[in-house]
Amino acid sequence: MKTEQREPALWALIPAAGVGRRMGSDRPKQFLRLGSRSVLEHTLDIFLQHPGIRGVVLVLGVGVDRDAMDLPDAGGRLFLVTGGEERADSVRNGLGFLAQRGQPDDWVLVHDAARPCLPPDDLDHLIAVLRDDPVGGLLVAASTDTLKLAGTGDRVERTLDRSRVWRALTPQMFRLQALRAALEAAAASGVPLTDEASAMEFVGASPRLVEGSPMNIKITRPEDLDVAEVYLNRQQRLRSAR
Ligand code: C5P
Repeated sequence: MKTEQREPALWALIPAAGVGRRMGSDRPKQFLRLGSRSVLEHTLDIFLQHPGIRGVVLVLGVGVDRDAMDLPDAGGRLFLVTGGEERADSVRNGLGFLAQRGQPDDWVLVHDAARPCLPPDDLDHLIAVLRDDPVGGLLVAASTDTLKLAGTGDRVERTLDRSRVWRALTPQMFRLQALRAALEAAAASGVPLTDEASAMEFVGASPRLVEGSPMNIKITRPEDLDVAEVYLNRQQRLRSAR
């Protein structure tokens, strides 16, 4: 008898449990308004609109009033999980939830809630490039500035070769079980992590770099909201012109 070859599912995991201190606002940056909706609603929409994504795990802070949130009606594809102290803890909680629903070799796309300008074409491209990759990888952007490595006393130690340096963006796409194990191993060793690729590197894997748009900014400071609005309008214009 022929056994059915199962195509690994794609899940999105959105860590949104940060407090965003650098923003200096009355609420975490993912809940601020960006045009007619919140930053988080823009971000969620990108993944909920994608026909290839099986489900979206949204990781929220402990004190967040979920009933007061205007979450989209996602037809049972949106799952809420509580986050942790650091970003990596929030992602681990989300993966723990997914481990009960998905298969170990399913793909997980981890994407910051604070990146509402991810172009849908970049998401498609990332998935297409990595679908058969043995490790997975991440969206990156080139550095347009010359990069200096600091030595001591605010002095340049050397200039980096900018053709080899990339800015790590999200989504970062890895296999559910492999990513979970890598994050657990890094946590057990006390290694601080700011992205998923670092966890994979920690266990000896080499994530693939996939160049994406520099429009995929992370909202961090108040002025970023104005920039994000310009980028979203630009994307809308480009879509309408197609
Ligand atoms: O603080 P930073 O900008 O690096 O956060 C990136 C993303 O990780 C944000 O979407 C934030 O809400 C999320 N995060 C989280 N849990 C934390 C810290 C950050 O889900 N403890």
